Amino acid sequence: MTMADPIKIMLVDDEKAFRETSRRLFKGRGFDMVAAENGQAALDSLHRGPVDLIVLDLKMPVMSGEEFLKRAHPLYPDIPIIVLTGHGTLDVAVECMKQGAYDFLTKPIDFDRLFLTMERALEKRRLEDKAKRFQDDIVRSYLDLNTEKKRLETIINCMANGVMVTDRELHIVLHNPALLRMAGMTAPVENPLPVSRVLNDSSLLETLRKIQSREIGGKDFISQEILLGKKVLRAISAPTLGPDRNVFWTVTGAVTVLEDITAFKELDRMKTDFVNMVAHELRSPLVSVRQLQTVLLEGMAGPLQEKQDEFVRRGVKKIDNLLELINDLLNVARLEGGRLVQQSVRIDVSEMIAEIVTLFDQRARQQGVTLTCSCECSLPIYADPGNIEKVLNNLISNAINYSPGGGRVSVSARPVEGFAEIRVSDTGVGIPPEELPKIFDKFYRVKHPKTRHVTGTGLGLSLVKGIVDGCCGKIDVTSVPDQGTSFRVLLPLMEAEQK
Ligand SMILES: Nc1ncnc2c1ncn2[C@@H]1O[C@H](COP(=O)(O)OP(=O)(O)OP(=O)(O)O)[C@@H](O)[C@H]1O
Ligand SMILES: [Mg+2]
Repeated sequence: MTMADPIKIMLVDDEKAFRETSRRLFKGRGFDMVAAENGQAALDSLHRGPVDLIVLDLKMPVMSGEEFLKRAHPLYPDIPIIVLTGHGTLDVAVECMKQGAYDFLTKPIDFDRLFLTMERALEKRRLEDKAKRFQDDIVRSYLDLNTEKKRLETIINCMANGVMVTDRELHIVLHNPALLRMAGMTAPVENPLPVSRVLNDSSLLETLRKIQSREIGGKDFISQEILLGKKVLRAISAPTLGPDRNVFWTVTGAVTVLEDITAFKELDRMKTDFVNMVAHELRSPLVSVRQLQTVLLEGMAGPLQEKQDEFVRRGVKKIDNLLELINDLLNVARLEGGRLVQQSVRIDVSEMIAEIVTLFDQRARQQGVTLTCSCECSLPIYADPGNIEKVLNNLISNAINYSPGGGRVSVSARPVEGFAEIRVSDTGVGIPPEELPKIFDKFYRVKHPKTRHVTGTGLGLSLVKGIVDGCCGKIDVTSVPDQGTSFRVLLPLMEAEQK
């Protein structure tokens, strides 16, 4: 029964005159009427196409109304049937109600009452249809949910990564076989059980606690490395949200995905060892060659002709570049191994900046860059002078190198809340936002058509970051492509350290 189609009524009555009167009145009410002169004809007609409601006389030849009801109602239980009865068949009508008829009216028929009863029956049917549709929807949603749940279970159980879902009390409420394998557990375990019984790592427990108390500062997830016996695992934990009585969504626990990165770590260590070894092996002969070439340049092995002098000088320059790369490689390796010497000497950052800027002055001018320096006052810090020089050298040389069409580079320093704030800003090519998080990675270089000629290894900023972190400082960067870049370094001031 849809709203658009007219409502179709079947009138089953052997009295032709009554059928005709009814047809007229039904039509006047906007109903379509199908007529049948007895129960058999009505059944045949129903088999050909359904109707919305049946008005049924009881006394008819061929097949009585009672017999029709007995046969039709089980076949079409949704169609309401209103029985019309004379006084002689009242008890049969009552029997019909027991068989499932919606209501009965006594003849002679009062059409107003009949229409009222029909409207009520139709309304009841509409409500029943609606309830059935709701029920179907609920069943379908339940089945969909279950299918989805089964699918997720299969995925989680087949994953090579460990997965665990924890609740507010840091109990595991869901886990997969890979998690137990990673934890070296052979027998299956029953949920819920405390996380510490599977992964007893204090930093991971701390993370789960922080997630619970929403102390993760707007981050979507926390990634950390944890040690489990000889294994190194990367654990990525994120809050799970659920409905709550007071707040609609609240943190109900966390989901943690664990990946075994032991092999990657080992490979990384082997690569670092290899790079170290090669760098060391290369440095000594290179230093010797450089010394020999210096001897040549100083004329200690006899005077050089102009061309010879030029070639030797070019050779020295290339060797210097190579030595610089080797030193960077060794420094990064030392930083990673925690072996970079960080002396603690009193340095005035402002003075150091002024000296370094002077040294860069000529190079800046050669590249058409205006290099300026503004340092408000003396800024004493405790740090390793060589390392802080490396930081400034790298940032200033980057600012000049990545300003290919000339421009301005400014270096400034001032005290900010117990820190010396150093800014190195340029008006160069800038760095696209998606590249910004990667520029501090080892060997990472941004590809830009205008700076393709700039040679470098991509080690400078990783070294800078390592040194700044080692001094309990901070470094960040803001950049707008084609407008410029600004690096900000914060180093603890001496006074602040002594407090
Ligand atoms: N001031 C800057 N303006 C634009 N891009 C920059 C700037 N500083 C760094 N970058 C980008 O970040 C990348 C990484 O810098 P980093 O100093 O680590 O390496 P590099 O300069 O390429 O080589 P090197 O190890 O010789 O310093 C650079 O290749 C460059 O693409
Ligand atoms: Mg650099």
